[in-house]
Amino acid sequence: MSIRSKRKDDHVELALSLPKPKDPFESMRLVHNSIPNMNLSDVDTSTRYLNRDFPYPVYINAMTGGSEKTGQINKKLALIAARLDIPMAVGSQHVALEHPEYEGSFKIVRETNPHGFIIGNVSANASVDDAQRAIAMIQANALGIHINVAQELTMDEGDRDFAHWLDHIEEIVKAVDVPVIVKEVGFGMNDATVKQLYERGVKHVDVSGHGGTNFISIENARSVEKRYDYLTDWGLTAIESLQITKLYHDKLEIIASGGVKTPLDVLKLIRLGAKAVGISGTFLKMTQHDDKEMMRQADNFFEDLRRIMVLIGARNIKEVARVPYQIKESWVIVRE
Ligand SMILES: Cc1cc2nc3c(=O)[nH]c(=O)nc-3n(C[C@H](O)[C@H](O)[C@H](O)COP(=O)(O)O)c2cc1C
Repeated sequence: MSIRSKRKDDHVELALSLPKPKDPFESMRLVHNSIPNMNLSDVDTSTRYLNRDFPYPVYINAMTGGSEKTGQINKKLALIAARLDIPMAVGSQHVALEHPEYEGSFKIVRETNPHGFIIGNVSANASVDDAQRAIAMIQANALGIHINVAQELTMDEGDRDFAHWLDHIEEIVKAVDVPVIVKEVGFGMNDATVKQLYERGVKHVDVSGHGGTNFISIENARSVEKRYDYLTDWGLTAIESLQITKLYHDKLEIIASGGVKTPLDVLKLIRLGAKAVGISGTFLKMTQHDDKEMMRQADNFFEDLRRIMVLIGARNIKEVARVPYQIKESWVIVRE
């Protein structure tokens, strides 16, 4: 088994077993509405993002592939995606770009969901050729490029060179003919980051915030010295990232993720400007059950999304983006 392949299994195991961080959505409430003047059957959850119409503003975010075990997880995630007609991202495909024997653990997603919307995944180290091969491997409908500086720096075998990232991202965005989403991996994005991406032609960004899967904790647990306990709080939450990047919300498509456990969390992020919401850890947990129980949990999630829209009096996703909300004072950013 290659180092990258073994790392994939470690990530899944640690993502499932590490202690849960503080709920990143606790500082926000959507306001209760006692007379919604609508029926549950009036709710329309459909919406448009990544240049397509989808029945829900939710998708399965990048996680797995690259080992036997994570190939099986990809298959289960693809079953959920096919049933609900939601997009699904695969995990980083570099392992299969280097070792073609792992391609099957990614291709299984396309085999399981032949007509689904599948999002490929590469790092910002990827060349244009890597990106094109990753897309071809799974006939991807979109491509994610992960930016994971916090993870690399706290990983014993991680990268230390990041100066070329923006150039690579710009080259890939220009060269490929599917939408490109530049995504964090759970530490959030500030306005300066989004500005730079916008200036390089990026049209879709996933701010992927702190408070769910935590790659500093995961890499710390995998490392020999384990010296990064003090960084477990590092990063901006998705809520903070959406607030701080507000100026850019009408310039590019902002997607949010990071710590989403409930449909209520999804609606909070949409209220703050996210056009879609990605979920990783919560779907990963569902795959740990047999298919029947996994589907029951997935169905409940999407049914409850509709029910909570009634609770806030929103008939459709556009109305969700306008409902009143309450927010507790959060960290203030000081620049001068
Ligand atoms: C097991 C696991 C593996 C992941 N691998 C990748 C990856 O290969 N590429 C990537 O862009 N993000 C990866 N992520 C990050 C997620 O896409 C997401 O940004 C992050 O987990 C925050 O979302 P969550 O709190 O819903 O898990 C991974 C997440 C998990 C749980």
